[in-house]
Amino acid sequence: MSRGFPEEFRQELLNKTDIVDVVSRYVDLKKKGGKYWGCCPFHNEKTASFNVDVNKQFFYCFGCSKGGDAITFVKEMEHLSYVEAVEYLADKAGLTVPRISNSKFEEEKEKQRKRHYEICKAAAGFYYSMLAKGNNKAADYCTKRGISFGIVKRFGMGYAPPGGDLLFKYLLSLGFTKEETIRSGLAKENSSGGIRDFFFDRLMFPIMDVYGNVIAFGGRVLGEGIPKYLNSSDSPLYNKKRHLYGLNIAKKNKQADRLLLVEGYMDVVTVSSFGIGGAVASLGTSLTKEQCILIKRFTRDVYIAYDGDGAGRKAAVRASKMLMEEGIMPRILVFEEGLDPDEYLKKYGADKFEGLMDNAELPFKFEIDKLSENYDLTKEAGRRDFASAALEVAANIKSELDKEDILKYLEVKTGYSVETLSRQTVKMHKMEKNSHNSTQMTEVPNKDSFKTKAEALAIKLALNGWRERILLELAEDDFDEPAYKECFKEIKDGMISEHDLMSMFDSESMQRMAMKVVAIPDEEVCDTSFKGCIDAIKNEKLKKELDYYESLLKNKELEKEKRIEALEKIPQLQKRLKQI
Ligand code: UTP
Ligand code: MN
Repeated sequence: MSRGFPEEFRQELLNKTDIVDVVSRYVDLKKKGGKYWGCCPFHNEKTASFNVDVNKQFFYCFGCSKGGDAITFVKEMEHLSYVEAVEYLADKAGLTVPRISNSKFEEEKEKQRKRHYEICKAAAGFYYSMLAKGNNKAADYCTKRGISFGIVKRFGMGYAPPGGDLLFKYLLSLGFTKEETIRSGLAKENSSGGIRDFFFDRLMFPIMDVYGNVIAFGGRVLGEGIPKYLNSSDSPLYNKKRHLYGLNIAKKNKQADRLLLVEGYMDVVTVSSFGIGGAVASLGTSLTKEQCILIKRFTRDVYIAYDGDGAGRKAAVRASKMLMEEGIMPRILVFEEGLDPDEYLKKYGADKFEGLMDNAELPFKFEIDKLSENYDLTKEAGRRDFASAALEVAANIKSELDKEDILKYLEVKTGYSVETLSRQTVKMHKMEKNSHNSTQMTEVPNKDSFKTKAEALAIKLALNGWRERILLELAEDDFDEPAYKECFKEIKDGMISEHDLMSMFDSESMQRMAMKVVAIPDEEVCDTSFKGCIDAIKNEKLKKELDYYESLLKNKELEKEKRIEALEKIPQLQKRLKQI
């Protein structure tokens, strides 16, 4: 399984990484027996069914059957891709991931990226101290807008002082070059060749990537002024389309696995200060496709909380369409009086806000409501025109259930019956390609059947010294569970180890099945288990055969030969079943 770096590197990384260390950063672990136990970070539980096996260096949860090695853990926990998780752990272990294409150009780019992180971090530290020392315009402004010092700290907000080149000088004194400060967008050269700080006299919001590296800044004017926000420009080192403000904090949200999309920096900050987690904002542009894909990596449970004015609602409809393109069905919060989340929270508080989230609307309904404002529904003609316009929206709804809901709603609003509206929709027959309507359910661990458990045990045994005997007793056809069938094939074809199971499958559900094998305690590798699982599997097979012949007999038109065959087979099978 090539993942873009040599397999030996993966091994080296796992050897240098202690999984207990890694997991302890997220889970409170207690040692019991040979293992460490804690509450599973991947599903909600009160008693610990999550454990880390130090010897085998893997984790496993008996509740949700998630499991794997340290790389899988970080991947799941931090919502990273496999390669990103490897990079993350490599960085912590002081290793460099060997790249396949290690050209000079790539190396230089990589070096610049590292320096960019360093310089942005230094600048953020500078801005923060300028604010934190108190007695300055930004601190006063925060107080005025109800932003506590705790929130300033959480978001690393700061103050870019007026003047001219204090940050520039500070960065030079730390050893950054003039070119580096300019390349990172923190300083700029004026026509006479002098250098000035790019941001001055502004409240600073550091923009971070998902790992928490500062990569850019947004700066708000203190009071009135133009532009209200000044943002770092795009460069080879920063692309505003690919990031979301607040995501590194939102992803740590413990309340729920959801994101709340807002319009601006201030909204993110205020929402968070009211104890509501998950707020993120796009960065001075409308929502991009790249951001939707980024969102999908974290959750499909998305709320849009854009400003309640005309522009905000238009943007909400647009954003919902972008998200639906990516298979996310978001819900839209409806703010009255044109308020934005920041203003709404200050006026009505967090409980009311949560209430809005509970009542958030599906995009189609929201769009139709917005549409209705253009018509005079007290007049017959207005209702008619509105109905046609609304049906164009409804024609795009893929789910029949959602469509019926909307038609019922339109019935109330326009007075036309659902039947008429529905016939009209068919006529318009605008069944354009639409988003996949897949609001993903959180996975509920399903209980495995006795047979599936026996199959898992057989794989466990085969990987722990019983390979020959298992191969002698069982064949591929004996396995019903696709993951175990696959494992069995691999075992037959060559020598795979139990450790290989941890990263054998790309499909999450197959991977879970594989992890169930790894998690079977070693004590179960014994003669009794061997006998038990072989019997169970064979028993099941015989029962299936028996069922088959019995069902044949029920068919009155069955050919003579077949009937005789069945009559002969049934007692034989019954006898063999009794022997097991
Ligand atoms: P808003 O004008 O709604 O600002 O712009 P805000 O974040 O709610 O801030 P306050 O409450 O008025 O202080 C929303 C977002 O649009 C971008 C910024 O990302 C801002 O957060 N924007 C706005 C700019 O990039 N430049 C501007 O001049 C204005
Ligand atoms: Mn706003």
